Amino acid sequence: MKGIIGRLFSRQTRLSQAGPADACALAALHAASFHHGWSEDEFERLLSDRNVLAHRATAGERLAGFILSRLVVDEAEILSIAVASMGRGRGLGRQLLETHLRRLAALGARCVFLEVDAGNVSALRLYRRAGFREIGRRNSYYELGQASVALVLRRDLL
Ligand SMILES: CC(C)(COP(=O)(O)OP(=O)(O)OC[C@H]1O[C@@H](n2cnc3c(N)ncnc32)[C@H](O)[C@@H]1OP(=O)(O)O)[C@@H](O)C(=O)NCCC(=O)NCCS
Repeated sequence: MKGIIGRLFSRQTRLSQAGPADACALAALHAASFHHGWSEDEFERLLSDRNVLAHRATAGERLAGFILSRLVVDEAEILSIAVASMGRGRGLGRQLLETHLRRLAALGARCVFLEVDAGNVSALRLYRRAGFREIGRRNSYYELGQASVALVLRRDLL
């Protein structure tokens, strides 16, 4: 059943740029995807920031995924990406990331950074497949109060 719904979900998704009006939906999906959710206010601030770029994937009225990053001069940092659990593993994360990277490049970004937990297998596969390479590690990254390792990844956009 989940497979059928998931296939329908991914077939009907549309990608577009997100704005402040999406803050509530993005906060809800973020809270469902991460242990430390960001509030609607935080999303509203981010989505109103002219240096922040955000894309959303929608299936009808529902938010299926999002990605957002901050661009300063020619360097961008991906702040977050999430796909609704029902739609994961169907290429939506990759579509969002590729669309987002193309737009960042068009806006003048020459390189993109991000941090990812070393144990986040699906995110690491997504980023490595998209050409991101590890450039560092941070040991002081805490999730659920436990020390864990965050990898710093970089991809150059030519
Ligand atoms: C990370 C995330 C955005 C990926 O979205 P997605 O739509 O499932 O990604 P895709 O379907 O495009 O798959 C991307 C890669 O991850 C792999 N993958 C997806 N789900 C996986 C899983 N459960 N286990 C292992 N690999 C998985 C895919 O096989 C694919 O790798 P491949 O190209 O080598 O086959 C999604 O899992 C998510 O929202 N996770 C929770 C939030 C999160 O951790 N965000 C990243 C923070 S840095």
